[in-house]
Amino acid sequence: MQLNLPQIIAHRGASHAAPENTLAAVELAYHENARWVEVDVKLAADGVPILMHDATLDRTTNLSGPVNAKAAAMLATADAGSWFDPRFADAGVPALDALLDFAIEHEMGLNLEIKPNPNEARRTAEQIMALLARRAAHQVPEILFSSFNTAALAALDEAGDPRPRGVLFHALPPSWQDQAQLVRAWSVHAEGKTLSQSKVAAVKDAGYPLVVFTINDAAMAKRLLAWGVDALITDRPKALAEELAQ
Ligand code: G3P
Ligand code: MG
Repeated sequence: MQLNLPQIIAHRGASHAAPENTLAAVELAYHENARWVEVDVKLAADGVPILMHDATLDRTTNLSGPVNAKAAAMLATADAGSWFDPRFADAGVPALDALLDFAIEHEMGLNLEIKPNPNEARRTAEQIMALLARRAAHQVPEILFSSFNTAALAALDEAGDPRPRGVLFHALPPSWQDQAQLVRAWSVHAEGKTLSQSKVAAVKDAGYPLVVFTINDAAMAKRLLAWGVDALITDRPKALAEELAQ
């Protein structure tokens, strides 16, 4: 399956002005004209895929402890917004299912970064695939999976998941192409500040779409695009798009 990735993907939603990985941040990304969002997906205690970056709840919610010690229903009613701004106190930790509904309704695409809890890589991939399989085909948005965790990516591949997947790196290691081939990656994702023109060329010459994060600076965005980067993951989709258009 191929994708037409947009140039701009909102990082954890429009996380510059709304709490990351909440539906409020995804909604803001939509209003900022982002048509794709990147979010982090892991499992709640009951195996339900939910959106959360950290392994623990302490930084971004009013709860504490490991994410996988709380059921999804409890996470949904947690306060995942006040840490960012009190006006987001109603924002809970969303289940992936709720994000899928939003994406279908608003015709948005999703970069689902699988960020498993410790020792849950395979199960996380399996639970996400099971969730997607329970939905009618027209209720599943365009999805690009990605992960730093190659076991999670391998689980998608071994299950024959038809959706494209990207292998995530901070700096590209010398073995980046071997790792991409091992999980039959469609795309390569790397941290923008670690890239050089020659590294971008190496990825592009090997035939991979290249997605970079987290690009909030217009000068860096322009340089990366000029080198041939395909998509920029940013906290500030509207402002960056405007700066790129200048
Ligand atoms: O998917 C790109 C980026 O989100 C990876 O880093 O820590 O923001 O999830 P992180
Ligand atoms: Mg992420």
